[in-house]
Amino acid sequence: DPRVLGDRFGRVATDLRVSLTDRCNLRCSYCMPAEGLDWLPTEQVLTDDEVVRLIRIGHDLLGIREVRFTGGEPLVRRGLVDIVRRTREVGPDLEISLTTNALGLARTAHALAEAGLDRVNASLDSVRAETFATITRRDRLQDVLDGLAAARDAGLGPIKVNAVLLRGHNDDQAAELLRWAVAEGYQLRFIEQMPLDAQHDWSRAEMITAEEILARLEAEFTLTPASEPRGSAPAELWQVDGGPATVGVIASVTRPFCGDCDRVRLTADGQVRNCLFAREESDLRGAMRAGATDDELADRWVAAMAVKRAGHGIDDVTFLQPDRPMSAIGG
Ligand code: GTP
Ligand code: 5AD
Ligand code: SF4
Repeated sequence: DPRVLGDRFGRVATDLRVSLTDRCNLRCSYCMPAEGLDWLPTEQVLTDDEVVRLIRIGHDLLGIREVRFTGGEPLVRRGLVDIVRRTREVGPDLEISLTTNALGLARTAHALAEAGLDRVNASLDSVRAETFATITRRDRLQDVLDGLAAARDAGLGPIKVNAVLLRGHNDDQAAELLRWAVAEGYQLRFIEQMPLDAQHDWSRAEMITAEEILARLEAEFTLTPASEPRGSAPAELWQVDGGPATVGVIASVTRPFCGDCDRVRLTADGQVRNCLFAREESDLRGAMRAGATDDELADRWVAAMAVKRAGHGIDDVTFLQPDRPMSAIGG
C-alpha cells in the first residue's frame, strides 16, 4: 500500500501512541486535580476489537512501525494483556511499548512480556516516599519500585524512567534520582513540564528548564553528549561520568523537536490527534461505528495527518492550551 501518514513539512508518522483509558490511579498535582476529572463514558471508549482494528489499519495500510500504549494509566485497562497479544499478532515486526506509572506492574509484567510487549517506560518523580506521596497524592512509592523491578526481571528493558521536576517539591532531587537510576540500571529522563495540565496552572516561569536540570546534575556528575544519533527521539542523551549509563532531557519547551516528529496519537475515544497540541481531531470511532471500511478509515487518517502543524506553538502569542489535558491524550 503506497499510503503513508505524511504531512506538509515532509514528516512521516510511523510511531502510533494509543491511549487506552483517560483514567488514572494516581493524582499527580501537575496533571489533574485531587478529585480526578470527568472520565469518558464507557460507550465512548474504543472496545478492544476497535483498538486492534485501528492498529491493524495503521500497520497494514499506513506504515506504522511502533505502537506505544499510554493512558491515563494503561494498566487500569482490563483488556491490556489481550490487546498487547493481539497487537503482536497484527505485527510480528512491530515495536510494542508501554508508558505507565508502574503501579500494579509487578503483577502483570510477566504476562505482558509473554503477550509480546517489548519494553516499558515508567513515570517516577521522586524516590523519597514523602515527596512521592505529596506529588502523586497517593502513598505508593514501594509499589512503583516493585513494578519497575518486575518489569526489568521480565525482560521489558531497557527501562526508561521519566521524571518531571517541580519547583519547591523535587527540583533539589535531580542528582539523587540519577544516582538511584544508575544504580538500578534504568535510563532516567527529565521532562520539561508542558502546558497540558487539566487545571491550566502551567507557568513558564515556574517550569524547570533543561538548562537548569543540566546545571543541577553537573554539580555532581560529568555529562558528555552521547554519540548515538537522536533521530526522532524526544530525549537528548548525555553519558554519565564517562558511561555506560546515560541520562536524557526531554526539552519540549526550550529545545523543541517538532521538526523531527514521527508520532501520531489515538485517544481512548477513538480520535486521531496529529500532535499533542492539535486543536482538531479526526473521529475514527464515529466513522467506524457508522460502518466505514478499512480503506475509508485509512483515508480519513491520512487526511488528518496532512493538516499537522509545524510545531506546538507554545511560544506563539496566539498559543492556546488544547482542550484535552495530557491524561486524555496520552503523553
Ligand atoms: P521512547 O524514546 O521510544 O522510549 O519513547 P518516548 O520517550 O517517546 O515515550 P514516553 O511515553 O516515555 O514519552 C516521554 C515524554 O516525552 C512524554 O511524557 C512527553 O513529555 C514527551 N513526548 C513524547 N512524545 C512527544 C511528542 O510528540 N511531543 C512532545 N512535545 N513531547 C513528547
Ligand atoms: N508536561 C510534561 N510531562 C508531563 N507528564 C504528565 N503531564 C506532563 C506535562 N504537563 C508526564 C508524566 C509521565 C509522562 C507520561 O508524561 O510525568 O512521565
Ligand atoms: Fe510532534 Fe506535536 Fe510533539 Fe511537536 S508537540 S514533537 S509536533 S506531537
